Amino acid sequence: MRLQQYINQLAGRMAAAGVHCGHGAGNVHDEAVFLVFGALNLDFRQSIEQQDRDFGPDELEKLENLARERIEKRIPTAYLLGKAWFAGHEFICDSRALVPRSPIAELIDSGFEPLLVGEPGAVLDLCCGGGCIGLACALRFPSCRVDLTDVSEQALDLARENIRLHGLEDRVSALQSDLFCELDGSYDLILANPPYVSPEEIVQLPAEYRFEPALGLDGGSDGVDIAESLLKQASKRLNPGGWLILETGFSAGELENRFPQTDFLWLAFEHGGAGVCALKRSQLQRLAGNCGSSE
Ligand SMILES: C[S@@+](CC[C@H](N)C(=O)[O-])C[C@H]1O[C@@H](n2cnc3c(N)ncnc32)[C@H](O)[C@@H]1O
Repeated sequence: MRLQQYINQLAGRMAAAGVHCGHGAGNVHDEAVFLVFGALNLDFRQSIEQQDRDFGPDELEKLENLARERIEKRIPTAYLLGKAWFAGHEFICDSRALVPRSPIAELIDSGFEPLLVGEPGAVLDLCCGGGCIGLACALRFPSCRVDLTDVSEQALDLARENIRLHGLEDRVSALQSDLFCELDGSYDLILANPPYVSPEEIVQLPAEYRFEPALGLDGGSDGVDIAESLLKQASKRLNPGGWLILETGFSAGELENRFPQTDFLWLAFEHGGAGVCALKRSQLQRLAGNCGSSE
């Protein structure tokens, strides 16, 4: 069987089985491409047509084993491959952290324009999981210093492996912290993709999500308890002129309900995704109960 034919056939099998595509691929065709290209180490920058060829029996067996695990057990493709791509970079990926899929990737690609003017000197990736957001920033901004923090030691172990994968030990550190508790520095940019699913919603999620750590999904009542604490604490860790970029996904409405006086700037995405807001330091100072007169 040829590559293109196999991808089409696999996509059809995935659709027929009702596989859920919520972990980086938007539909079964992209999911099949991800599985096949990832398993055979093909170049994602080249098209299927450019790489179309016959498979050998060993390759077919490898693909079929992965396809079975994906379709029958519903294991996310990134966990099966042990790798994921985020903002154009490859990361080690396993069940110690969520599969990277944040729309914040698009903001990193565009250098956070027009919010930021030039490169940030210091960036915090709060709730970093495997570190994809902070590491993609470090790769986008070659002289910035990045701190990755998470409450989960397992996630941080994975983040440290990803720091080493990209040779960024000199500019990127990983630190265990419950939100801002263990931090004393300040940053030009705080990027946060905290858990934002409510317990009622978690039990209704498709089977694929059960392979991900619950700590990465459970955002407390209404999904926004962690986001609320984060918003109230962030100003003291932001430099003047700095921004907090916060992802709350489909819990955005709940967050607005909790902070009716706050003028959230919800960012638009060309390549899909929503529920990401930007807040400047003065807004966060007001949320913390301080006087927020300066930027
Ligand atoms: C939605 S995942 C995001 C992971 C990664 N940033 C990404 O975009 O793929 C949320 C992460 O927040 C971490 N987390 C949960 N509660 C936390 C807390 N109180 N303080 C710090 N990190 C927390 C979880 O361990 C998990 O890795």
